[in-house]
Amino acid sequence: MSHDQYRHEHDKKLKAKFHWLTKIRKFWQSDINRATLQLVEIKPGETVIDIGAGMGPATVAAARQGAKVIAVEPSSFMRTILSIRRLGQKARSQIVVADGVAETLPVEDKTIDAVWTVNAVHHWVDLEAAFDELARVLAPGGRIVLLDEDFTHSDHPLHATHHGHEDELTNVYVDEIAEALTARGVHATGQLTTAAGVPVKLIRGVRTP
Ligand SMILES: C[S@@+](CC[C@H](N)C(=O)[O-])C[C@H]1O[C@@H](n2cnc3c(N)ncnc32)[C@H](O)[C@@H]1O
Repeated sequence: MSHDQYRHEHDKKLKAKFHWLTKIRKFWQSDINRATLQLVEIKPGETVIDIGAGMGPATVAAARQGAKVIAVEPSSFMRTILSIRRLGQKARSQIVVADGVAETLPVEDKTIDAVWTVNAVHHWVDLEAAFDELARVLAPGGRIVLLDEDFTHSDHPLHATHHGHEDELTNVYVDEIAEALTARGVHATGQLTTAAGVPVKLIRGVRTP
């Protein structure tokens, strides 16, 4: 199934692949992904989703921690890299790489213990559809952590050089997102804070029964 309507034009361009390759060190493993996973507080045996998993830095770390991870990623380029990376993991049987988007998650209702996303909310096209999906898939008590680095913040070390194409992507307003999730039964709060030493936009929530 094509998810093209849920991908920004910017992300579909060949240029995006070259851009991602220039960032491969960060996309392979990063402090910001480690910091996000700490907030998720994975427990062995949980079923979790990494939305917009990219090359899978958080996916492989969560699998090593004993979770069953569904790495949802719409870019076939990213999925290919992650699928190859998966083969090199001891915990590979714990990882499923799935074609999908935040707006249509390829899992059954109320089956997921935790969902996170790192630097991907600004790539989502239809936030309302994505919030519906988060509320649908989380089991009662299930957690969400949505974290985007705030490159627009003057304290971010990459502030001056980052070309985030903000004008072509989706704005992330933490309070509005928290409110929209809470209205759907995922009790959430939004914060402008720091993680791994950089300014971030953070939304955390728990699915009410
Ligand atoms: C900046 S990358 C971050 C990748 C990874 N989470 C990381 O931290 O290394 C953003 C990712 O979001 C994915 N993406 C784009 N549109 C999406 C959507 N609608 N739903 C979920 N992921 C999406 C992109 O393909 C890309 O892999």
